[in-house]
Amino acid sequence: MERMFATEKLGGSSRSLYRFHAVTVLAGICLVLGYRATHVPAAPGEGRAAWLGMLAAQLWFGFYWVITQSMRWCPIRRRAFKDRLAARYRDERLPCVDIFVCTADLQSEPPSLVMATVLSLMTYDYPPEKPNVYLSDDGGSILTFYALWEASAFAKHWLPFCKRYSIEPRSPAAYFAESDKPRDPSTLEEWSLVKGLYEEMTERIDSAVQSANVPEEIRTNHKGFSEWNAGINSKDHQPIVQVLIDGKDRDAVDNEGNVLPTLVYVAREKRPQYHHNFKAGAMNALIRVSSVISNSPIILNVDCDMYSNNSDAIRDALCFFLDEEMGHKIAFVQHPQYYNNIAKNNIYGNSPNVLSQVELPGFDGAGGPLYIGTGCFHRREILCGRRFTNDYKEDWERGMKGKRELSINQTEEKARSLTTCTYEHNTQWGNEIGVKYGFPAEDVITGLAIQCRGWKSVCNNPPRAAFMGVGPTTLAQTILQHKRWSEGSFSIFLSKYCPFIFGNGSISLQHQMAYSVYGLWAPNSLPTLYYVVIPSLGLLKDIPLFPEVTSPWIVPYIYVAAVKNIYSAYEALLHGETLRGWWNGQRMWMIRRITSYLYGTIDTVRKLLGLSKMGFAVSPKVSDEDESKRYEQGIVESEYVIIATVALLNLVCLVGGLCKILTSGENMASSGFFLQVVLCGLLVIINIPVYEAMFIRKDRGSMPFSVTLVSIGFVMLALSVPLF
Ligand SMILES: *[C@@H]1O[C@H](CO)[C@@H](O)[C@H](O)[C@H]1NC(C)=O
Repeated sequence: MERMFATEKLGGSSRSLYRFHAVTVLAGICLVLGYRATHVPAAPGEGRAAWLGMLAAQLWFGFYWVITQSMRWCPIRRRAFKDRLAARYRDERLPCVDIFVCTADLQSEPPSLVMATVLSLMTYDYPPEKPNVYLSDDGGSILTFYALWEASAFAKHWLPFCKRYSIEPRSPAAYFAESDKPRDPSTLEEWSLVKGLYEEMTERIDSAVQSANVPEEIRTNHKGFSEWNAGINSKDHQPIVQVLIDGKDRDAVDNEGNVLPTLVYVAREKRPQYHHNFKAGAMNALIRVSSVISNSPIILNVDCDMYSNNSDAIRDALCFFLDEEMGHKIAFVQHPQYYNNIAKNNIYGNSPNVLSQVELPGFDGAGGPLYIGTGCFHRREILCGRRFTNDYKEDWERGMKGKRELSINQTEEKARSLTTCTYEHNTQWGNEIGVKYGFPAEDVITGLAIQCRGWKSVCNNPPRAAFMGVGPTTLAQTILQHKRWSEGSFSIFLSKYCPFIFGNGSISLQHQMAYSVYGLWAPNSLPTLYYVVIPSLGLLKDIPLFPEVTSPWIVPYIYVAAVKNIYSAYEALLHGETLRGWWNGQRMWMIRRITSYLYGTIDTVRKLLGLSKMGFAVSPKVSDEDESKRYEQGIVESEYVIIATVALLNLVCLVGGLCKILTSGENMASSGFFLQVVLCGLLVIINIPVYEAMFIRKDRGSMPFSVTLVSIGFVMLALSVPLF
């Protein structure tokens, strides 16, 4: 029997080389720890406390390094054979697919861009009556509805155009941004026509958003606009479900007479006194709404800023689900996230290359990738809580069978009744059924719970990325994003969903470790902060914390540090990054750890102790988005202070320490401070852009003077505290 996908181990013989290298690094780490443990200064005055702190930090780093090996040990790559799928399944037999897009905020997610995403998802290379696109609008805005109505009209031109010329990518925004003329000059006329239509549509949407108003004459075009007659707002409105294109309706065709995919607008009911559970709540509402409209066995879920970059993605994903040997075990197919707005030497270290080409495949090899909340195909039944049994047969024809029993108006009415605020009360939704509630990283536990119920997941990473998103472009955005991620993962780790507890007995130890790599991001902050402050202070205050150059113990230190960094640079270069990009990534790695992760740790612990009002206990307070925005703004400023303080402290310690060593006439190598000078020196070099931001730059990238001032204060404070 011909398989529909292949699994290959990555790296071949270099895999054994990697494992050999890992074993030597492990030996090095043991020697480093051995040295620490056996050379503790006898008297408290000689820096015993500082030494013990180093021991604790190194114990943590060693432990964390072992955890991370779970992802590097046996990465695998999957390859889908869609020609074999085509040979076995004629187009009529292919299953239907429900596509969920969630949007919430007009400001950060402009409707015209969301529409480009929606259009890209309507134009898969797939029988057009089979995809059903649902847009969930948690902002409940007439402007988003208007934009979707415009998109449904433009789709009639866009679909035939894409299919006739096999256009890629199928997001009109991305496609027209690529070049100012078509690849094939003979199509110029039609190309210009469609481009013009697209630009006019975008302008109409943007100007409606700008004036916060939909023109009266447009409102008469669709009954859906009347939902907003009652002067509703985003936090208080009735449930709205409007089918803009009904794929089962013979009249819903593009301008060449071909069927169009179903397109549905959904805004679940919002009332101030009920908690809405954010995106997880929206996803669950979509699962129910779609169950009465299309009820497809496959659900694809993408963020509204992530367009489809590969029109084969549905067929690729089906190769996994429909594979005779493995398919019945696979619950979801996760795609990595790629960004289209990251510059080559990206200074904020956001390039997801290593994440998507090393870590996700590694996760797959460890037992199956995690669900990251976007770019993921699910099987509906499994998302809704089904346990794995060997004899379960999926009904792939679900949703295909002929006409609906209810009229479209009755169907909408029924769907509305499934999205009321109280519908989920006293049900298992958000717990056993659907996406889980109550955690900042609900996607991850939802995926984990699916795997614990016995299902597998796979990572599909086709050569042409399936989805492209928009990455954060400023330091503040990066810091905030990572704070949220690290905090979410850490709070899962400390909850009953801790992979080592929840997964115990259901998934392999290696798989549990892989989940913990992200779960333990946050606590890395404390040892890292210690490592970038204390050895440098020790240099200034004459407290040696590393072996001397002449001591054989220095060998494992240098070996571990050098090999680890050389390997990480090699890995980055191998996956299409530049050396400078890697170096910038190292800076961001440190900055993230001493800012985002630190705040992630502090906030998680505060919530655990019940000290924070933004707790897990789901209270209506949490939904006050403005408040959390202000709160986050405050965080970013104090995080700048940490960055500036660490950078400045290292500069002072390096200069002071070097002066001292040189004036004492000692040889640097035999002074016992060699490694501290190297460490401090590297920290200074990596922080050069921070000094520039503090003292040289006068543009937008400069540090506020107040931050510089406060950090100078902190440095003086740190220098005046004695080290023990
Ligand atoms: C996205 O698709 C375009 C073709 O439309 C391709 O050139 C590009 O490489 C793809 N991006 C990625 C990251 O694969």
